[in-house]
Amino acid sequence: MMTLSGKARLAGVLGWPVSHSLSPRLHGFWLDRHGIDGAYVPLPVRPEDFLEVVRALPKAGFRGANVTVPHKEAAFALCRDHGRLSERARRVGSVNTLVFAEDGTIEGDTTDGYGFLENLRQEAPDDRWTRGRAVVLGAGGAARSVIAALLDLPGLDELVLANRTVERAEAVARDLADARIRVCALDGAQIETEKCALLVNTTAVGLKGEQALPVALDSLDPGALVTDIVYHPLITPFLAAAQTRGNAIVDGLGMLLHQARPGFAAWFGTDPQVDAALRAHVLAHAT
Ligand code: ATR
Repeated sequence: MMTLSGKARLAGVLGWPVSHSLSPRLHGFWLDRHGIDGAYVPLPVRPEDFLEVVRALPKAGFRGANVTVPHKEAAFALCRDHGRLSERARRVGSVNTLVFAEDGTIEGDTTDGYGFLENLRQEAPDDRWTRGRAVVLGAGGAARSVIAALLDLPGLDELVLANRTVERAEAVARDLADARIRVCALDGAQIETEKCALLVNTTAVGLKGEQALPVALDSLDPGALVTDIVYHPLITPFLAAAQTRGNAIVDGLGMLLHQARPGFAAWFGTDPQVDAALRAHVLAHAT
């Protein structure tokens, strides 16, 4: 790490807990690579202290911060009521990137959906997955970002949103208000995968080392690209099963790496690249 000067640019990640976050390692790699006089630090902040801390950060010279669990909705509300929101943050209802403008305005953006698409664009340059039908499993906060990003693809004709709790999927469809979204129950998703170009898992199924899959893959279109937003393990049981069937797969680590780019560019003035060296650096320390 390079020595900081008195003019060092400052940013960090607000979370509670934040000790598991890979963001300091990821931004630290880019700061080193570009020889930037700057620092990106973990900021462990309790929910009850979030507003106070965010409002103080610009006064301490910070240029901005990432926001992670459990603060994304609070960051959204803060920017809505006292700052500015990007169009996509407004649509998704959450904020993961804060930029403090010169005049002190707090600008909120959400880059998770952007990171999701950039990862697929980089790892699956054959763009067949951008057309036709996409099937998204899960309707949590992460799914909202993914779905909003997918709806920006002009070639996407249909987005099937499957969730265990159908009402939750219906709420997402209502909020994102796009005629291409069709909701179904998770156990009705298998038939929808018969003709699909893209299958995305955003559910927590398989996270805790269980081997269960969110949906059976017996009917899966052999040409479908399959991705999971979970990156621990890197190859989830879901991805492994898809790979065994011969489907192309993309793991979820790249989404984390790409979602970090807009913040880094805004705070440190350099648009960083996601490449094999960065992946290896972050992976070596992923716990
Ligand atoms: P996040 O905001 O990080 O996406 P979340 O809001 O907890 O996380 O959402 C988790 C998703 O995983 C939800 O779609 C959830 O389904 P429900 O809305 O029905 O709860 C899904 N999920 C979690 N455990 C599941 C399980 N055992 N079977 C099926 N779906 C599950």
